[in-house]
Amino acid sequence: MRHLIDPMDLSVEELDKILSLAGEIMTNKAKYSERCKGKKIATLFYEPSTRTRLSFESAMLELGGSVIGFSEASSSSVSKGESIEDTVRVVGCFADVIAMRHPNEGAPLLASMYSPVPVINAGDGGHNHPTQTLTDLLTILHEKKRLDNMTIGLCGDLKFGRTVHSLVKAMSRYEGIKFVFISPKELKIPEYILTEVVEPAGIEYEEVTSLEDAMPDLDLLYMTRVQRERFFNEADYIRLKDTYILDVKKLESAKEDMVILHPLPRVNEISPEVDKDPRAAYFRQVMYGKYVRMALILTLLGLNY
Ligand code: CP
Repeated sequence: MRHLIDPMDLSVEELDKILSLAGEIMTNKAKYSERCKGKKIATLFYEPSTRTRLSFESAMLELGGSVIGFSEASSSSVSKGESIEDTVRVVGCFADVIAMRHPNEGAPLLASMYSPVPVINAGDGGHNHPTQTLTDLLTILHEKKRLDNMTIGLCGDLKFGRTVHSLVKAMSRYEGIKFVFISPKELKIPEYILTEVVEPAGIEYEEVTSLEDAMPDLDLLYMTRVQRERFFNEADYIRLKDTYILDVKKLESAKEDMVILHPLPRVNEISPEVDKDPRAAYFRQVMYGKYVRMALILTLLGLNY
């Protein structure tokens, strides 16, 4: 039985197969519309979500399966003190696969140790978000036609942004990648990502504070929201939240074929006027997320034939 807790749980070969299956599902939806008939996904969301939960649920429904779960812990027996270990042992009696989001880092890993069915980490605290990474990789592959040889700017809250941590891990395995980490000093990329992931992979990187200076070199710009829910101090959040606002003026120096991604939700960090720019791929990215989650569900259930 396989779980997906960390993006590195999948080898590059396995990742390529999932991305390729997602592409096939996109072009041949009818072939897969009954593949999960009789199967259920449980979405156990202890933290708010729009895209991840609904895309998992849409993915299973479009595969002919069904959905159970909760979207806030207060509506489950967690509010009576039930542990994660017991919750997944119980839910595993009802569902064939579990997608779990939790504010505590490591909670889905703990769940995977007790669950009788595959567990997918749908985001754990400021740690990892591997299915957002699958979404990002599928988007990059379709928008840029490659996953290697590019300069990637990651901008905003690189400290708490779990999507950034997971994406850096995954992209560090491809050739010719350069990262430009763009953040205020308070929200820099964690040291362990540099020393345990980027540097051992021999990846070139820079840490800078100016988005404008970095812009002309970028093939991909990954904007992120400042993660209010992870701050200990509201005053610091207010001070930092609008450090970077991508607007039409700032894009004047960007490459014609640069792609702009954002895991969403967006707050202020991309001006709505940018949405009309063909380089803005963040709503297309949401759609890719559904297809790649379909491919992941099929893979974990052994139905990826
Ligand atoms: N990108 C993402 O995780 O969005 P949600 O929080 O809405 O699931």
